[in-house]
Amino acid sequence: MTTARITIDRDFTIGQVPRRLFGSFVEHMGRCVYTGIYEPGHPAADARGFRTDVLELVKEMGPTVVRYPGGNFVSGYNWEDGVGPVEDRPVRIDGAWHSIETNAFGLHEFVEWSKEAGTEVMEAVNLGTRGVDEARALVEYANHPGGTAWSDLRRRNGAEDPFDIKLWCLGNELDGPWQIGHKTAAEYGRLAQETAKAMKFVDPSIELVAVGSSGRSMPTFGSWEHEVLSHAYDEVDYVSMHAYYQEHDGDAASFLAEAVDMDSFIEGVVSTIDAVKAAGKHTKDVNISFDEWNVWYQEGLETEDQPHQVSKGWRKQPRLIEDTYNVTDAVVVGTMLNSLLRHGDRVKIANQAQLVNVIAPIRSEENGPAWRQASFWPFARMSALANGEILRLAVKSDQVETKKFGGVDVIDASATWDEEKGRVALFVANRSLEDASDVTLDLRGFQAQRIRSAEVLTVPEGGDRFTANVEDAQDAVALQPLGDAALVDGQLKLTLPALAWAVVELEVAKA
Ligand code: AHR
Repeated sequence: MTTARITIDRDFTIGQVPRRLFGSFVEHMGRCVYTGIYEPGHPAADARGFRTDVLELVKEMGPTVVRYPGGNFVSGYNWEDGVGPVEDRPVRIDGAWHSIETNAFGLHEFVEWSKEAGTEVMEAVNLGTRGVDEARALVEYANHPGGTAWSDLRRRNGAEDPFDIKLWCLGNELDGPWQIGHKTAAEYGRLAQETAKAMKFVDPSIELVAVGSSGRSMPTFGSWEHEVLSHAYDEVDYVSMHAYYQEHDGDAASFLAEAVDMDSFIEGVVSTIDAVKAAGKHTKDVNISFDEWNVWYQEGLETEDQPHQVSKGWRKQPRLIEDTYNVTDAVVVGTMLNSLLRHGDRVKIANQAQLVNVIAPIRSEENGPAWRQASFWPFARMSALANGEILRLAVKSDQVETKKFGGVDVIDASATWDEEKGRVALFVANRSLEDASDVTLDLRGFQAQRIRSAEVLTVPEGGDRFTANVEDAQDAVALQPLGDAALVDGQLKLTLPALAWAVVELEVAKA
């Protein structure tokens, strides 16, 4: 048994929860769009071809904003191909994922789907093969009320009212040699600056995300952000971050501690942004859009759905990177969400990649069912309960030894205080594979009145850390009541089983 003590204080807050932290991502990749969110002819499809079974799960999971249409896909995409009468839309080769793109689903369909899902649209423009002119045309098409060529085309295509898209990504992963239209930081920095200027001339109310590094291990990490921002600091509002983690060679301890890496990755990018701010005597802040993050088994999995396997032929909606997430993965996802929330003063947007089928919390089968992966649960509960202020935690915890990070707190946590609802929400993970943990939450400045709910995701009875939800056992991993939680002398006491992610909702008043 390990122990940990977490202290919160009503006066120690980080800032308001940026609700856009609970974002997701729909790319034209594999089966995310086709047979994922969109499948005309499926028994649960509505008249527009949207799968209502998938939509129900999306609403339950609660993403607030969804990035679209890529990803690597966007760097070779012509947005005009996806608007207008479907029968007139061209079928194209998608070089990024070696697939055939029918364009049956495009901007209008995504905007409609987002309304149905209750999510904000985050649109990416192609800065791989295209540039300033196509990007500003798309803003005019989407956001200008009418009376100009592009906006009237939108109206003729069935959308009288502007889409009013606020959030735009200036391309995707252009630091990566795999990207169509890969650029140097100087090339991209100037292009981002000029594209941002032209897009904001069309609609000054939009917010823009400059491409940051595709990952912390990129050789240009740090210098890329510095150079790009030294050109485009005044024109952009956010710089992007991407991170994917997986378990390597059975080293579960290091994998369970990857939020340590995420914390310092974020803090490194904040430092670079602020160095450019200081040197350039800028006054505004640029914040972070962590617009791709997740667990992704990129190495060691020789399954049929790896990109290098499917590149043998041109196919529509091939199965691509349909990772199955187990209990261990779900706990890691919970700790990644904790890391994002702990940095909510600077990380203002985050998008789990992706939403359906492609490294996703929701799975669906063509003409078949849709179900929740294990990793669905931490996201769904945090999106539902993390409101109000982010609390700054003081954690004193026993340590767990890891190869990658040395000794790491066995307990990883974040917490929020929703004054209006009189609620403190604690999100807490136990990284140990062997030991349960006794956790005490000391609430300073709060009077805890009762536990509204306490739930845990852990190894199910008869299962192990690899247990996952699959088509034939869709609910093998789910939240269970956390019996061992009680208020004792105003403190919350709970026992977390080994390898667990838990959420506790407390009713509080100000002390
Ligand atoms: O999310 C899958 C892919 O990962 C995205 O298309 C790309 O941006 C990243 O490399």
